[in-house]
Amino acid sequence: MAPDLSTTFTGIRFRNPFLLSSAPPTESESNILRAFEAGWGGVVTKTIGLHPVVNVLGPKTKFLRADADSAHLSMKKRPGAALHSSWNWELISDKTLEWWVPRLGRIKKAFPDHVLVASIMAGSGNDTELRHWQHLAAACQEQGCDALEINLSCPHMDRPDMGSNVGKDKELVSIVTKVVKEVAKIPVWAKLTPSTTDIVLEARGAFLGGADAISSSNTFTSLPLIDADTLDFEVQVDGLVSTGGLGGPAILPLSLAKMSQLTQAFPDKSFSGIGGISTFEHALNYFLLGCGTVQICTAAMLDHAIGPNVIRQLNAGLARFLEKHADKGWAGVAGFVGLRRDRVVAQSKIRRPTEKDYRGGYDAEGYAAAEEVGVKR
Ligand SMILES: Cc1cc2nc3c(=O)[nH]c(=O)nc-3n(C[C@H](O)[C@H](O)[C@H](O)COP(=O)(O)O)c2cc1C
Repeated sequence: MAPDLSTTFTGIRFRNPFLLSSAPPTESESNILRAFEAGWGGVVTKTIGLHPVVNVLGPKTKFLRADADSAHLSMKKRPGAALHSSWNWELISDKTLEWWVPRLGRIKKAFPDHVLVASIMAGSGNDTELRHWQHLAAACQEQGCDALEINLSCPHMDRPDMGSNVGKDKELVSIVTKVVKEVAKIPVWAKLTPSTTDIVLEARGAFLGGADAISSSNTFTSLPLIDADTLDFEVQVDGLVSTGGLGGPAILPLSLAKMSQLTQAFPDKSFSGIGGISTFEHALNYFLLGCGTVQICTAAMLDHAIGPNVIRQLNAGLARFLEKHADKGWAGVAGFVGLRRDRVVAQSKIRRPTEKDYRGGYDAEGYAAAEEVGVKR
């Protein structure tokens, strides 16, 4: 018998713990319908807001690739290069709430057993802006959405009261969460920014405001590289660039470090892990650190826009993993969530070699032997 991949997260039943995160793969009705047909357990819609959105001229996302036989990194397409990361400066959905509302209803009717999470964003500078959050939340839940994800994490917003600028302020995080919770009849997940010193503080703010889960990470604030021939940024308009967000393989270890901080600080809370996932082995890291679901963007963008092969491999990987560990009696993902949470400790808790065995850094990987660099011992 095939293993049961289903799980329950924030009270919602998922046929599998894999979601498309809020991004281009979930920007339209047709994409979301295709995603459900392909087997994704859930999707988080591209973030919906009330303010007008106009994106920059030209590409909004590009992919940085690394050569296998040199240290060369570039966004230029070339054979044999491996994906390093995605870089984007795309704003939230440029479609209005009125555009989204009937589509959310139709998607939910077509796939009642798949999980539809509406990502929403408004400002937080005054009461009118805070009411916008409530307006967005009410409109999406009326259409049957299963949960709300509040975007406190978009890294490229100029407004100081929006996106990651809210996510960097624990009081604002708490206020916005509470305001949304006042009208929400469905679970509220807070998507936090990794661009902060101690993400535990903002997470505490979200939980104090009543958040049912934390999603992390959004993309990491970053710049595209400068091309040494043209002296232009690899992404630019009229020679100008602004900071954008890094996603994909490069952020997997970074995002895991944030997640480890979060799950250790709040071992009884729910977390949805995001950042750099393209295989089950990547996702497993998040589960073992304490996440109940995971979300994927970059890998899906590069796989027919919605990741049909990615989700097939994630589901197959989870099934194989459960079969391999059948003797442990794990009832799906919940059986192994958090199993390695407590293995991350302070550096001082890591065993040292005895004085006799200690040879400094000389023999460690990455250090040249003294003779090679002409150092006299
Ligand atoms: C082009 C692009 C657009 C995105 N738009 C949104 C968005 O509207 N709302 C949001 O919460 N996250 C957005 N994200 C962030 C992703 O949902 C995700 O958190 C991030 O890309 C890390 O996951 P990954 O490493 O799998 O790409 C966007 C990411 C990309 C690449």
